[in-house]
Parts: sequence; C-alpha cells; structure tokens
Amino acid sequence: MTLAAPNDPATGADTGHAGTGLAAELGALYTRAKAAVGPDDLAHIRNVTAYGEAIDARRRELLREGGPRAVRRATALELAYRLMQFSELGHNIIHGSYDHLPDCGEYHSDRYRWDFNVDTDHWKTMHHVGHHPNTNIVGRDHDLGYSILRGSAGQDWYGHHLGQVAMISALAAMAPLAAPFFLSNIARKVGGHRFLSSYTLRSPARIARADMRRRFVDEPFRSGWKPLPTLAANYLGGVTGYMSVLFLVFIEHHAGELELFTDPGPDETADQYYERQIRATRNFLPSTQMDDALTRLLEAEVPFENRPDLRIFYGGLDTHIEHHLFPDLPPSMQRKIAPEVREIALRHGLPYHETPLLETVPLIAKTVTGLSVPFGEREFSRPRDLLRDPAGLARRVAAGLRYRRLPESPYLDKPRFHNVPARVVETTPVAGGQALSVRLARPRGWEDVRWDAGAYVSVRVEVDDDNPAGSDRTELVRQYSLVHDSVGQEDGNLPDLEFCVKRVADGRVSNRLNDSLKPGAWVTLVGVPQSTGDFALPAADNGVATPKSLHIAGGVGITPIIALLRRLARDAGSYCDATLLYFNRDERSIIFESELRELARDAGITLHLFTDAPATGSPAAHSPFTGGDLRTGRLSPELLAEMVPDLAERETYVCAPAAVIDHARGWLRDLGQPAERFHAESFTAPELERPTDDGSRYTVRFARTGTSVEIDGGTTLLEAADRAGITVPTGCERGLCKACVTTKLGGTTSAEGSGPAQDRITVCNAMACTDIELDL
Ligand SMILES: Cc1cc2nc3c(=O)[nH]c(=O)nc-3n(C[C@H](O)[C@H](O)[C@H](O)COP(=O)(O)OP(=O)(O)OC[C@H]3O[C@@H](n4cnc5c(N)ncnc54)[C@H](O)[C@@H]3O)c2cc1C
Ligand code: FES
Repeated sequence: MTLAAPNDPATGADTGHAGTGLAAELGALYTRAKAAVGPDDLAHIRNVTAYGEAIDARRRELLREGGPRAVRRATALELAYRLMQFSELGHNIIHGSYDHLPDCGEYHSDRYRWDFNVDTDHWKTMHHVGHHPNTNIVGRDHDLGYSILRGSAGQDWYGHHLGQVAMISALAAMAPLAAPFFLSNIARKVGGHRFLSSYTLRSPARIARADMRRRFVDEPFRSGWKPLPTLAANYLGGVTGYMSVLFLVFIEHHAGELELFTDPGPDETADQYYERQIRATRNFLPSTQMDDALTRLLEAEVPFENRPDLRIFYGGLDTHIEHHLFPDLPPSMQRKIAPEVREIALRHGLPYHETPLLETVPLIAKTVTGLSVPFGEREFSRPRDLLRDPAGLARRVAAGLRYRRLPESPYLDKPRFHNVPARVVETTPVAGGQALSVRLARPRGWEDVRWDAGAYVSVRVEVDDDNPAGSDRTELVRQYSLVHDSVGQEDGNLPDLEFCVKRVADGRVSNRLNDSLKPGAWVTLVGVPQSTGDFALPAADNGVATPKSLHIAGGVGITPIIALLRRLARDAGSYCDATLLYFNRDERSIIFESELRELARDAGITLHLFTDAPATGSPAAHSPFTGGDLRTGRLSPELLAEMVPDLAERETYVCAPAAVIDHARGWLRDLGQPAERFHAESFTAPELERPTDDGSRYTVRFARTGTSVEIDGGTTLLEAADRAGITVPTGCERGLCKACVTTKLGGTTSAEGSGPAQDRITVCNAMACTDIELDL
C-alpha cells in the first residue's frame, strides 16, 4: 500500500521527499565557508572586543563629566555597546562560531563571558534548543512573541494580549532587569520547568541585582559629587540598549510577509528545513541616516586606530537569513556569503526578505497593536469574516480568557499534518457494545490526503498515569485501520476517516476510546494514514481482471479486510472473485455483519462466517439468499481445503492474532500456495528483536547538534539520541506510527542489512550495523 503524501502546506511541493537540491547546495556552501573561517576572523573578533571596551571606557568617562550633553552621549554609547555585545559578540560566540579554531581562547562558546543580562545556559536552551530548530513553528518556537506577546496572526490569542501594548511599555521601562527573567521564562518552557522555581528565579535575580548595583550604585558613586546624571544616563542607556536589541530581534521573524508553520513533525526533509528557515526569516538593510549619526558620534567620542565596519553593531541580525541557515558561522563570514545565499534562494523560487530598517518600525507597531484582538491569519485583512460567525468569535474569546487552546486551531491558516486534531462526527456501538465504530471529519486542508485500502491511522491519547518518569500524564499511541480507502463516493464526496475500536480486557486506550468518544469530541492523529508494506492490493489496472483473492479475518481483524473487500468490489463492478473466512468468538462479536452481507449480495463476494460457539442467530444468517453462512468452527487445514479448493491460485490477506497468522501461513504453504501470495497484518505491535552483543561498537554522529555517542548493535538509534540528550518525537516506538522518522546521512542500519538502503528511517526500531550519521 502506498500513501500519496500531502502537499507541503507552504509550497505545494510534494513531501514525498524528492529532493529539491536546496540542502545540498547550502551544505556545500557551508562546508566552504566554515573551512574559510580562520585567524582573520579571530583577529576581527578580538578587535571588536577591544573597540567595545574603548566605547564602554569612554561612556564611563562621560558620566564623570556630567551635564546633559554627556548624559545624551553616554546613553547613545551604551546603546551602541549593547548592540555590539549582543550581535557581533555574544550571540554568535555562544553559537560556537570560533569553537573549532585551536587558538580561540576565551572566544569558545563554553568559556565566553558575555556582558549581557542573560544566564548563558538558559540562553542555550531557549535559543539553540527552542528557537533555531523550530523557527516560526506555532506551538514549538517560543520566540514567536517571546512566550508572552502575540507577534503574528497565526499565534493563538490569550486574554493578556488585549493589553500587550501596555505590557510592552511596562517591560521597556525596566528592560535590563526584566531581560534575564524574560529569557529564563522562555527557557523553562522549552526545558519543562515550573513557572515559579529556582530555575526561573535564582540566576535571573543574581544577574538583575548585579546590573542594578553597577548602574544605580557603583557607577553613580564613582562619578563624583553629581550622581544624578549618571543615574539618568545609566537608566536611559539600559532601556534603549536592551529595547534596541529586542526590536532588532523582533523584526527577524515577526510580521509582514514572513511565514508561520504548523509542526512539520519528523517528516520535514533537510530541503524543507532550509526552506522554512529562509521563508521565516528577514535580513534588514541598515539606515544610512542612523549609521551616519552613529559614525559621527563614535569618531568624535571614541578614538580607535583600527575601527571596524559599522555592521558589527548588527552582526548576525542584519544577515539573519544566513545566520539561521548556518548558526555557527561568524557574522564576518555571514556577510561574505550573503550574496551567494540570496542567489541560491531566488534560484529555488524562494523569497529573500530584505527590509530597510526604518520601514520595519511601522510594520511592527501595526502588528503589535492589531494583534491584541483575536483575529487569525484568515481574518486579519478581512475582520468582517469573523463578525459573520459570532459563535466562533465567542468560542475564541472564551477559550483565550481561560488560557485553553482550541483544538481546531482557528488562528493559523495552514493545515496540520502532524499531531492533528480531528473532530468525531459519529460514533456507533457495534458487536453488542464490544466495539465502537468512529467516524472523524477530515481535518482542514486534508483534501489531497490519500490512502489505500488497509491503511491505518495512529491515534495519540493522553492518559492519567503511573508513569515511571514521574509526570502524571502519559501519551500513548495506538493504530486503528481505516475501513475505507480514500477514493470518493459516486456523489464526489471524499470519505471521512472511519475506524472501529474493539475493547481489549484491561486495554488502556481501546476502553478509553470506547467510553469517551462522542460526536463533537476531538481525537489527535499522529499523522496522515500509513500503510504497512506487505498488506497491499495490487494497483487497480483498467481492463485487467482483479486477481482472485482469499481473505481471512479474526475478530476485529476484519477492519483492514473490509477496506480491501470494498475496494475489490468497487474495482470489479458486479462480480468480484473474493472469498472471506471470518472467525469470531460468538455471534455477538461479529463486526460489520450487515455490510459484509451486502458485499456478498451485491458484489458476489463469497462469505463464510464462523463462531466458536454454536450460532443461535436469525434464519437470515443462514439463508443462501442473503449470502449468509454462519457456522461453528476454527481455522484449520481441513477447513481451508474444504472452503477454498482453489486457494493455491488466490492472493491471500490475513488479519488475525499473531498465532493464527503463523498457522495460516504454514497450512496454506502446505496446501500448495506460493509464499509470495500470502500477505498478513497483525494488530500486535512487533516486539523489538535485538541481536546478541558480538562486541561490535558503532559511533552515531548527530550532524545538527555536532555530538556523537558510541553504541552496540542492540541499541536503537532512538536510545542513542536519548543518551546524547537529543529529543526525538515518538509515538508507538515500534516502527508503526512514523513519528520518529529521521534523515540518515550515512551508515547502514539493521533494517537495511538485507534490503535496499533508506535515507529516512524510523529510529525507534533501527539499530546500527556500521557507524551512523543522523540529521539530528
Ligand atoms: C497496524 C495496526 C492496526 C490496528 N487496527 C486496529 C483496529 O482497526 N481496531 C482495533 O480495535 N485495534 C486495532 N489495532 C490494535 C490497537 O492498536 C491496540 O493495540 C488495541 O486497541 C489495544 O490497545 P489498548 O491500549 O487498549 O491495549 P493495551 O493492552 O494497553 O496495549 C496494546 C498493545 O500496545 C502495547 N503498548 C502498551 N503501551 C505501549 C507504549 N507506551 N508504547 C508502545 N506500545 C505499547 C502493549 O504491549 C500491547 O501490545 C491495530 C494495531 C495495529 C498495529
Ligand atoms: S515512534 Fe512510532 S515509528 Fe518510531
């Protein structure tokens, strides 16, 4: 069975992973650029540091002079110093721009002492883990609005956004002191820490205290008998410095034509990753007016022999596209390669957002004020659309005021394909209440999603827990077969997603779904429907007769089988040479009985129903006119030979408990059926088979994070990632839901040992046969 993958929501590009070549081109550029970073870049950054020290020394001198002119100039110098500290220096150094140079000294990311009000460890969590990999993904990138503001119309609206203009003003008034708390709050969300905890309070308080002491006690005290000008300059310099940094950072990913994204899940290819970075990021063109003023000030106030280019005050922010593509390239190199990046982006049909700095000011002002109300991307330019649906608006306001996310995600216009909420439209208890048939509306934007007969969806369910990790909620993923393929009905309507869940004694998910699903409820689908390779009908071929088939189902194993039968009946028209042997404990357990009888009657499918216990059912069940044939019996070689004398010629599809599948395979082979005609699906997730340790050790390298670990041949690559501190989204952990699919850049895994090489692998069940490199 194959799946027609959805079109990429942003580009319309097929996500069937046919590469566009973007990642390869950028990769080659990166390799060249990184190799060219050397002593000159290190000399440059040392010079920038010296220049910064000269600026700060002059600022302090001015403070001792006193007077309104000195206050104005000291304030402007602090602004320049702060911009340089953030951009050309700390932000890039902490990314590891110079780590690979043997004599990088204090410019190593682990040793650099950053003169900026932030805990460096919090910064690394917030920025490197939270922001960069997730640029502009709603719900994952906390830099969208910095966890408190609404900076884009696709973000969810919450009550406090009504007052966000006032909130920004209040924050601005104490920007240097608020900064470490603000950043820690984002980091704690990424790292899963509590809001009020030592993590969010202790080090931010220490940083804020040190800053206050310098600004408002030490420097005024040292400035002589007139502390007030120093106090004023230090207050204004701090506010303007930190707010200028915030402004420049804000314009990089917010507002205007920059795109937001839904969570791409693990299906995002390297090409799509780079494409997202380009679409979501903006470079700015500095303002000559502002630069001239800054030049005049620096030339007048700070004598310096080897004065660097003014772009050090924006380093890595004006070339933010390059920075997001290659975060560990120093800004001096980003500036050099920017024309080449621009050319590559345009050649791939991608935008290359460059906006004059001053033009972004009204853009940001409009964004921040306009987004304080609950309009989403669709209505932002057409607010009347929302007023036409007052009930929808009321729902948004009510949810936003209670800080609840609406499952239908009304703000972001793009459809979701990963962890998608799907609305239940109908539920019907079947088999005397032992199972529940569930119909889900197609999620928004899924019109192009296709699946074959026999495909299944993976459902993610949150349960109260006894989980060993200590949290009181656990997410479980289970698979449910869809009972139709995706081909539309005659009236042209696309079918909904329909599956049937049978209760399992003490089952954690099946009983929960049976008990809780009602029309109007929401279910989370891990992704679009999937198929297992072997359980496929041949593609419908016009003019070629549908092959003769035999179907064997046990209990709820009928769910994928009925999808196959429906497709065969549709393809074959009035007569379909298919036989179904369907086994159940008793009459009450039979699922889809009336639909099966209909298929038998209308499409000529031969139907044999068996129960363990003697049947007591209605005469219709036994009537040859209704296609009924209800008997007592279990699958056996004798039964097979009697019921299906031509079984050797039939493609056979079995969905039943694992033991029944094993028996059926052996008996059919003994009865003369070629092995390649046998196709089976088991509802029991396959156990991981780990090879015995033969002493071999393999290195797993994680390319994006630059880490590696050593493992044996019985450790999964998911376990390896976990050891390296890398989180991979997971679901079933058995290779079924595809939540953990990752690009493999090199090496061979256990799954490929005897088969074709794969570059996208499920790391949860893959083990190493050689050294491996993953795009993580
Ligand atoms: C391809 C496929 C299609 C299926 N289609 C259907 C269908 O159409 N209808 C239907 O009723 N059932 C179907 N199933 C079975 C279904 O997915 C569930 O296994 C079943 O509903 C029982 O789940 P439970 O949580 O109630 O039972 P449980 O007994 O709690 O768990 C069921 C299975 O999941 C394993 N498991 C438990 N916890 C985890 C975990 N955290 N991570 C990974 N595995 C875990 C258990 O070992 C057990 O094998 C299908 C299964 C597969 C693999
Ligand atoms: S977690 Fe489901 S396939 Fe890996």
